Amino acid sequence: MLCFNTIHDTRQQLYAWRMAGERIVFVPTMGNLHRGHLRLVEHARQQGQRVVVSIFVNPMQFNDKDDFAAYPNTLEQDSVKLQAVGVDALFLPSVEMIYPDGHQNNCDVIVPGLSDILCGAHRPGHFVGVATVVAKLFNIVQADVAVFGEKDFQQLMVIRRMVNALCFPVEVKGVPTERESDGLAMSSRNGYLSAEERQRAPLLYKVLEQVKSQLKSGGDDISAIEAQAQQVLQDGGFRAEYFSVRSAQDLALVEANTQDLVIVAAAWLGKARLIDNIRLNLG
Ligand code: PAF
Repeated sequence: MLCFNTIHDTRQQLYAWRMAGERIVFVPTMGNLHRGHLRLVEHARQQGQRVVVSIFVNPMQFNDKDDFAAYPNTLEQDSVKLQAVGVDALFLPSVEMIYPDGHQNNCDVIVPGLSDILCGAHRPGHFVGVATVVAKLFNIVQADVAVFGEKDFQQLMVIRRMVNALCFPVEVKGVPTERESDGLAMSSRNGYLSAEERQRAPLLYKVLEQVKSQLKSGGDDISAIEAQAQQVLQDGGFRAEYFSVRSAQDLALVEANTQDLVIVAAAWLGKARLIDNIRLNLG
């Protein structure tokens, strides 16, 4: 696996691969890699000849300085894992490289509307940070395909909309959420759970599944269903930020004829902010 620390070297290698007619697939990450990330790489492998992974903990998408400071740096272990799954190149930019004028004086990418609801309402500026860094990484890597996890459903929608609006020549692929055997969605944040909280954590997915069954069997009082789900989470020791049934097309509130649904949730369990979602088509 080749490792690049500069934009110049990364571009040079990618140019050579592109000139050789190889299809480049990109998996952007913030490191602290788990099985979910490795699934993204496996998926990427099937999409082209060269897989490029970036590890960059993006300060601009953290609305909480302490959260950024506490984000684990596990570069050595991450490199071993990426090498084992056959990644061709690892790009490791510095903050100065990505934000040469400081991220306060940056040129921001704003995806209006979508960025301000759900996670965006609770983490102001988060999706501006995500869209901006992903746009920069796309410009550096210039991949044919980019792969993201569906666990971050809203992030995936923000990125798709950005790609569409700004005409990035990249195909964005979503990969289904990788779960532990008890249903808990894999996430770097799971490492913040105590042993006791880890036992409770699968409740989030269980409640999503329960709400899916309710909707499938004709439940149509969405507000009551959402409120009941939040209560179950609260009784289970969670502090829910939101639990909401939305259109899977644009995350808008559900109307009588909306059939393609996604149930999205974010909830705190101790120091861990967990997010998860589940799709449902009533058509
Ligand atoms: O999902 C992530 O790990 C990050 O938000 C991303 C897409 C790498 C941007 O920093």
